[in-house]
Amino acid sequence: MKISARLSAVLAASALAVGAFAAAPAGAQPAGATGALAVTPPDISVANVKQHLTDLQSIATANGGNRAHGRTGYKASVDFVKAKLDAAGFTTTLQQFTSSGATGYNLIADWPGGDTNQVVMSGAHLDSVTAGPGINDNGSGSAAILETALTVSRTQYQPTKHLRFAWWGAEELGMVGSKYYLNNLPTADRSKISGYLNFDMIGSPNPGYFVYDDDPTIEQTFKTYFAGIGVPTEIETEGDGRSDHAPFKNAGIPVGGLFSGADYIKTAAQAQKWGGTSGLAFDRCYHASCDTLANINDTGLDRHSDAIAYAVWTLSGGSSTPPSTGKVFENSTDVPIPDGGPGVTSSVTVTGMTGNGPTNLQVGVDIVHPWRGDLKIDLIAPNGTVYGLKTANVSDSAANVQESYSVNATAMAANGTWTLRVQDMFTGDSGYINNFKLTFP
Ligand code: TRP
Ligand code: ZN
Ligand code: CA
Repeated sequence: MKISARLSAVLAASALAVGAFAAAPAGAQPAGATGALAVTPPDISVANVKQHLTDLQSIATANGGNRAHGRTGYKASVDFVKAKLDAAGFTTTLQQFTSSGATGYNLIADWPGGDTNQVVMSGAHLDSVTAGPGINDNGSGSAAILETALTVSRTQYQPTKHLRFAWWGAEELGMVGSKYYLNNLPTADRSKISGYLNFDMIGSPNPGYFVYDDDPTIEQTFKTYFAGIGVPTEIETEGDGRSDHAPFKNAGIPVGGLFSGADYIKTAAQAQKWGGTSGLAFDRCYHASCDTLANINDTGLDRHSDAIAYAVWTLSGGSSTPPSTGKVFENSTDVPIPDGGPGVTSSVTVTGMTGNGPTNLQVGVDIVHPWRGDLKIDLIAPNGTVYGLKTANVSDSAANVQESYSVNATAMAANGTWTLRVQDMFTGDSGYINNFKLTFP
């Protein structure tokens, strides 16, 4: 009698199971850096950056010699970068737009974790002109921020602020992609970007070391890096507003960046302090077919790449090890679980943690219920990710759920509201959530 009542309820209950729950929004949590070990910014492997440039060169070669907006070489470049980021654990978004009758793409990559109210964003345009493969302009910036992002993943960096990277489409047509991104970014999200760092041409064959004259903190961060390696810098003057930082600046976002020079001529004084050839352009192949893999100065590319990582790490202020351990967050308010009814929830708000969750977040579940097989139990992370902890199983007639489940929470921020959702799938018995406890071991 009891069992058949349960079985007849299966279809109705499973129809009810979906869609009843709206995840609580993640609260704005203060970034608790207490006890965090500051991390030394990494040395970016210039060999890896060069490998990305080799791959971009191959893409251009296989696609009519360029990676320009609307051409097959552009989409192939986007696919190449996106695959690397996806494999490294980034959350990637392909943003489509139309320009000059062709589809363009921005690629946005977010590193899960950090305070999303304080975003440190780095960007580079990925398109070339139609004349050539665009390895310095701007394979160089694209490859350097790609390797920086991959190093974030490799070192499992846990920044206090949130990291975002962007590869822009159609910069060469007038910063079309970055303008599109900003025009479609809600005002509230604009104000969450603490700073935007732009890298357009950083491997010039006859290099200079130019720092954008903009946000003082960003500017000083780059200058400090170059001073530390004994390389003098100059303020960038070859055309303010000539790259993707301009729309960010216009939107009121603090900007900065690096540049190794385009078609301006290196002076004798510049050659004196930087080496290279005076009387020759920083990049004599600027916007030309000879902007190939051969059009890169490895030392300049290496220094600029390391400067990027230095700035990203310094400005996002994080740690490499989960600094907070042994923290327990608990909710012991009883929550009735209606018999064969909709899901009910119990939540805890996690604060004061830095970065993402641990590999083994302990989820303590204490439910009083005479027939625990009725119960389906999920954990919902602050970002809405649902972890199934227990499925319903009508034949499990034992009483109560007293379990500690282990969840890999490394893909999301620790701080925010975590929710236990319990649904009684079959009629016959009812119970209540006695306690919900999260332990960060
Ligand atoms: N954005 C230009 C291009 O892609 C290159 C350039 C010229 C530039 N002057 C600049 C980039 C000054 C940054 C700053 O063709
Ligand atoms: Zn460029
Ligand atoms: Ca029941």
